[in-house]
Amino acid sequence: MPLNPERVEWRAECASTNTLLREQAEAGAPSGKVLVAERQTAGRGRCGRLWLSSPEKSLTFSVLYKGKSTGTLAGLSLAAGLALLRALENLGARALRLKWPNDLLCRKNGMDAKLAGVLMECAGDMTIIGIGLNLKAPDLPEQATAGLADCLDMLLEKPALLAAIVGELDSMWADFAAHGFAPLRADWQARHVWQGKPVRLMEDGRVLAEGRCCGVDDSGALRLAAADGEQTFWAGDLSLRAGDA
Ligand code: BTN
Repeated sequence: MPLNPERVEWRAECASTNTLLREQAEAGAPSGKVLVAERQTAGRGRCGRLWLSSPEKSLTFSVLYKGKSTGTLAGLSLAAGLALLRALENLGARALRLKWPNDLLCRKNGMDAKLAGVLMECAGDMTIIGIGLNLKAPDLPEQATAGLADCLDMLLEKPALLAAIVGELDSMWADFAAHGFAPLRADWQARHVWQGKPVRLMEDGRVLAEGRCCGVDDSGALRLAAADGEQTFWAGDLSLRAGDA
């Protein structure tokens, strides 16, 4: 179903849709507003990283929701990744996986390559969900990256793609507001790329922990079974432990 055009703003360019939408929210933009930019000049990724995108190769947008919800921010962030995956699967995308906390991967040339990222930000009762989706793989030779064209035979036009994703985000937001992350946990874990595998969690170039990935708890925290018992984590970058794949 097409999105109500009144809730969507398309910009040719802005620094970051997350930043601009937050400013708009503070100035009174309504819950449900969607801000799309063909080009971001200072797109932001997780952990302070830069997010590069281009009009031909990416769909970059943010959605604003206002109101309190039951679950934690960590759980909401995972739920947003799951909503994105479900939307693309419903359109026919194959071999999609999630990587904690909310990277979307797809299988490409025998590897799990990054297809999309989610940057969730909250202030008071405002939540901004920013999504950067590669339509074609970006030229980042040092990273395994994929585009939707790698896992979906027929690409939709951007407005139809946006409507499909925002529709799933809207449903997720309503469910999450009422029930939190717990009912989504089993589905999320079934899609987790390294569930049960030996992994390493890093932060700022430092190893936080190593162990077997046991999935997530009801609040969305990562569970690792390490030599000295199970631990939970709220932040970090996960990778498969070298040599153990
Ligand atoms: C990640 O690091 O994987 C998250 C990337 C999120 C990028 C999106 S693009 C739209 C929105 N605006 C931003 O500045 N960032 C998010």
